[in-house]
Amino acid sequence: MTNRIHLGKSDVSVHPIGLGTNAVGGHNIYPDMLNEEQGKDMVRAALDNGIDHLDTALIYGPERSEELIGEVAGEYNRDNIVIATKGGLKFAGEEMVMDNSPSFLKQAVDNSLKRLNTDYIDLFYIHYPDKETPKDEAIGALKELKDDGKIRSIGVSNFSIDQLKEANKDGYVDVFQGEYNLLHREAEQTLLPYTAQESITFIPYFPLESGLLAGKYNENDTFSDVRAKRPSFKGENFKHNLEKVDRLRDIASEKDAEIAHVVLAWYFSRPSLDAIIPGAKRPEQVMNNLKVADVQLTNHEIEHIDKIFS
Ligand SMILES: NC(=O)c1ccc[n+]([C@@H]2O[C@H](COP(=O)([O-])OP(=O)(O)OC[C@H]3O[C@@H](n4cnc5c(N)ncnc54)[C@H](OP(=O)(O)O)[C@@H]3O)[C@@H](O)[C@H]2O)c1
Repeated sequence: MTNRIHLGKSDVSVHPIGLGTNAVGGHNIYPDMLNEEQGKDMVRAALDNGIDHLDTALIYGPERSEELIGEVAGEYNRDNIVIATKGGLKFAGEEMVMDNSPSFLKQAVDNSLKRLNTDYIDLFYIHYPDKETPKDEAIGALKELKDDGKIRSIGVSNFSIDQLKEANKDGYVDVFQGEYNLLHREAEQTLLPYTAQESITFIPYFPLESGLLAGKYNENDTFSDVRAKRPSFKGENFKHNLEKVDRLRDIASEKDAEIAHVVLAWYFSRPSLDAIIPGAKRPEQVMNNLKVADVQLTNHEIEHIDKIFS
């Protein structure tokens, strides 16, 4: 599974296993955040071990994740790194305000280029839809930036199916990024069939449900960070989820793998989904997640997993 993956119809290709860098730059949603050197070391661990796709965003840090990634990328051959970032929003005090207007997006890309210390962005996403801008107009602005060479491919994230269809009216969207994992399968209704039909790469976020799907928790674990607010980590729901995850243990041990590897390998059985960006907090996790490339699930195992989490 070490073939390179093309993002949508663009000429950008990536190793199937990338790195989500939510935790790089001091995102304040987790109490055990990495300091800046730890964050940079984790990115170096990825690049040193064959991962080339780094997924960041204006809001990680905020701004600081992009800056740290730019610093690390400067130590490597830029041509071998695929930098994906997201914008189209601003802060009004603590509040995030979406703005997908063409003029704002053009400014957002210029600002990201500065923070990343680079002259092109391999994949630029509109992070969240705003209420006002027609989506095809927003994408039209990104297409101009692509024609100018400032970005190499176009993505949208957190769009509904209708917003995605409007955005992709002229066929310019290369990547859709949305929440999708074994515990959150709503995307299978309309988004995944649409991306498969339109040759748009679907990149799932929260692929490990923030660690819950890695098989390392038990019902006595408690959470004081952002996980405490997520329904999948609460009460009876948490207990049921742990029971389901536990049922993957046999498949994992048969393959001499870990539950996290089985979960991450399962994504590759989905249509239009051939690149993942698991997040990590330590270089060991980054390296560990690369082992997914060696895990091949049989059709029977895929059906079994689907049934457990149906
Ligand atoms: N587009 C969007 O709106 C959006 C939203 C959210 C995320 N994202 C992107 O998606 C990426 C992934 O999401 P995420 O990082 O929040 O969640 P995730 O990938 O579901 O979970 C990552 C967490 O799982 C644990 N982990 C990772 N590898 C592991 C392993 N091999 N064994 C055991 N535990 C492991 C680590 O947490 P612990 O060490 O704390 O257990 C890690 O921080 C983000 O980094 C970001 O780039 C995008």
